[in-house]
Amino acid sequence: MATLEIRTSEDDILRKPCRPVAKVDERIRTILDDMADTMRRTPNCGGLAGNQVGILRRLVVIDLNGKLYQLVNPEVVFQEGEQDGPEGCMSFPGIFGMVKRPERVRVTALDRDGREIQVEGEGMLARCLCHEIDHLNGIVFVDKMSRRVE
Ligand code: NI
Repeated sequence: MATLEIRTSEDDILRKPCRPVAKVDERIRTILDDMADTMRRTPNCGGLAGNQVGILRRLVVIDLNGKLYQLVNPEVVFQEGEQDGPEGCMSFPGIFGMVKRPERVRVTALDRDGREIQVEGEGMLARCLCHEIDHLNGIVFVDKMSRRVE
């Protein structure tokens, strides 16, 4: 496994939409594992999206409460409620701010074997899913932040 370089705010790639993955093959699984490895080696990193590591593919990894999610082509298909809370991002070191997100989401995706899955997220998981899927669309949390917090 390899550790990938995390791109930061001045890098235009964060503003570029990622392309869907046509086929989940060994190459995609290697990228997902490198992303998971990178996430785990980076302190306080709860998730990463493809463009954050220089790969313009719709790939997301999330590590929450000891559970690893590796999602291909994730898409929010249902959302309800609202939460407002502090958020940060590995691509914006030292910046934290309040961001409104849905309280609950349902996401469809492919897993690392290319099978269709659904992920139901509430609270922090819903927040992480929305944050990472925004990345895939070239949207970063500072765009949605109502105010900075320390
Ligand atoms: Ni982020």
